[in-house]
Amino acid sequence: MKISVWLFLIMGLGPLGCVHDPNEKGMEILPDMIHSVAYEAYSENPLTPDKKTMMLPVKGTVARGHMPYMYLKTPEDAIRSGIELVNSTQVNEKTLARGQSQYETYCLVCHGVTGQGDGPLIPKMPNPPSYTSKTFLTYPDGRIFNAITVGFGDMESYANQINEQDRWYIVNYIRTLQKKKVP
Ligand code: HEC
Repeated sequence: MKISVWLFLIMGLGPLGCVHDPNEKGMEILPDMIHSVAYEAYSENPLTPDKKTMMLPVKGTVARGHMPYMYLKTPEDAIRSGIELVNSTQVNEKTLARGQSQYETYCLVCHGVTGQGDGPLIPKMPNPPSYTSKTFLTYPDGRIFNAITVGFGDMESYANQINEQDRWYIVNYIRTLQKKKVP
């Protein structure tokens, strides 16, 4: 047979061998691994000491990326956070731009474009303090970070929406707003 005929047969009939019904599971080589006897997350479990399938973390351990936060939403802890928490982020064009976009997404509605406490949600929300008020200017970075993390008074926590690094970037951005407004 001529080579072109062979080529025609290979190219033409080859794909037929690959036709596969996507709804068909195919051959199971190790069925025990495919159909493992897993327990449902909330089902009773005869193998664990407390008979629960979802086990609690071992005492004294911390899940990766879930360091416990040491401050509560109290005025005392707000002060303590200001003394103890250290801002170790770098301030540069890129991180400030990130801080600004996060601020404008989450804080502007109440605190306003320039941080004067005059955002579009006011007066539906109680008036937040101006970032350039005498008291606010004395707040260390840690206290502002803490307010975002656990909230303060009428303000709620933003820890679930804003990650730790972005919270510090917001703090840095608030500093630039304060500098703009201070006479
Ligand atoms: C829904 C409105 C609202 C939003 C959104 C909001 N705040 Fe506030 N914020 C307030 C109010 C109201 C207060 C005053 C709370 C009080 O004194 O009871 C406040 C207070 C604060 C304080 C002062 C805390 C202290 O220790 O005195 C800081 C800092 C602050 N906000 C930062 C932020 C930042 C940063 C964001 C964005 C991540 C944000 N806020 C988002 C309403 C808001």
